[in-house]
Amino acid sequence: MEHILDKDVERVLFSEEQLRARVAEIAAEIDRDYAGKEPLLVSVLRGSFVFMADLVRQIHLPCTVDFMAVSSYGAGTSSSGQVKIVKDLSEQIEGRDLIVVEDILDSGNTLSYLLQLLQARKPASVRLCTLLDKPSRRVKPVELHYSGFTIPDYFVVGYGLDYDEKYRNLPYIGVLKPSVYEDR
Ligand code: IMP
Ligand code: MG
Repeated sequence: MEHILDKDVERVLFSEEQLRARVAEIAAEIDRDYAGKEPLLVSVLRGSFVFMADLVRQIHLPCTVDFMAVSSYGAGTSSSGQVKIVKDLSEQIEGRDLIVVEDILDSGNTLSYLLQLLQARKPASVRLCTLLDKPSRRVKPVELHYSGFTIPDYFVVGYGLDYDEKYRNLPYIGVLKPSVYEDR
């Protein structure tokens, strides 16, 4: 650790090396599962941008990328299930094989809404790929095809994940000190 933001991190959960190795494994699974196809990877902004960038560079198939931004109403460390599309896809997805790339699956509120919305546009297939999964927090069931790591109910930051829009630039994933959000 050598970042000014490190002082707010209780401990490192996944180092850069661990992340790199696991992302390569997920990419290899995608290469195998989509052989002969040309998947469209949809990154859900903003949290998944780092994972997405690393993942696509480990995928060897021809693929395309697109981005979507959603915001979940409600502040703090949990989402409400009320989802708003802030930026829609640029591509038509009818008949495409979609892989939705997320940073973390928590309550499932955001993803279950988003997957429903994408299904209505008649893609050939939709799979969900998340770097982190917090199953103990699930409120809405979501079918998950690719998952990097399952974690307990910690609030984590780094590698794209934020607290109050900060910490996204940390190269590792760490547990945020509760004092950071309890003090506010
Ligand atoms: P869900 O709708 O509750 O599944 O929330 C998913 C979104 O909440 C993620 O895409 C993240 O933006 C955010 N989120 C959930 N847990 C964490 C966390 O531990 N750290 C940072 N962001 C989180
Ligand atoms: Mg997010």
